[in-house]
Amino acid sequence: MTSVHPATPKSLDDEGIVAAWHQNARPWTQAVRDGRIESRRTVTDRAIIEAVMSRQPGSVLDIGCGEGWLARALAAQGISVTGMDVVPELVEAAQRAGGGTFCIAAYADLAAGAILNRFDVAVANFSLLGDTSVDELFAAMPQLLSVGGAFIVQTLHPTAIARGEHPYRDGWREGTWAGIEGDFKDPAPWYFRTLGSWTRLFRNNGLQLLEIREPVHPGTGSPASAIFIAACTA
Ligand SMILES: C[S@@+](CC[C@H](N)C(=O)[O-])C[C@H]1O[C@@H](n2cnc3c(N)ncnc32)[C@H](O)[C@@H]1O
Repeated sequence: MTSVHPATPKSLDDEGIVAAWHQNARPWTQAVRDGRIESRRTVTDRAIIEAVMSRQPGSVLDIGCGEGWLARALAAQGISVTGMDVVPELVEAAQRAGGGTFCIAAYADLAAGAILNRFDVAVANFSLLGDTSVDELFAAMPQLLSVGGAFIVQTLHPTAIARGEHPYRDGWREGTWAGIEGDFKDPAPWYFRTLGSWTRLFRNNGLQLLEIREPVHPGTGSPASAIFIAACTA
C-alpha cells in the first residue's frame, strides 16, 4: 500500500497533516499510553468506546488508529478489529501491543480499495483532520460498511472547542500541543468544519445521521467533543 509523502508540517493542507504525524509519532504514543491527555482520560475515551459498543459490532475498522489504544480496548470486548494509519511508526507500535490487525494506509488508499473487507462499524477517533483526504474517505465509506453498518466519528466540538478565535466557517487552522506534555515537534494543521458541514458530509455520501452525542466535561460543563453516529443507507 502507498502512503502520502510528507510535505512540511507547517503547510496548511492534507500533506502537512501527514508530515506532522510522521514527526510526532513517538511523543504521541508516549502521551496516549501515559494517559497525559486529560480530556481523553476524563471523558472522550469512554465516550467513543460506548458509542461503538452501542452498535454491538462483531467487526470494527479503526480509521487513523494511531498507536492502537481503541483497537485494544474494543478487542478486549471480543470484537475483531482492523486498524489503519498512514504513519508506519504508529502502526508498528500498535502491532507490537496487539489486539487487532493493523496496516499502513492513507485515507486515499481506502478510497482506492486497499481494504476489501466490510465492517459492522468504522470508527474515526479524532483522526479526521483534513480537507480533501476526509472527503475521499467519506466517499469510500459505503464500500467499507456491512449492510446496516455504522460510521462513528469523534471530533473536536465545532462550537464548544474547535472554533477558537476564528469566524464560524470551514477552513484550515494551525494545530497546537497546548495542554499535552511531551517532546513534540510542529503540530499537525487541521481543517475546521462547521456542524452544518459535518452533517452534509454524512448526507452527501449515503450516510444517515442517527445521533450526535456531545459528552460533557464534568469540570468545565462544556462538551468535550462531538460524536456523530451514522448508518449506511447506500
Ligand atoms: C489525533 S491522532 C488520533 C489517533 C487515534 N485515533 C487515537 O484515538 O489515539 C490522528 C491520527 O490520524 C492519522 N491520520 C491523519 N491523516 C491521515 C491520513 N490521510 N491517512 C491515514 N491516517 C491519517 C495520523 O497518522 C494519526 O495517527
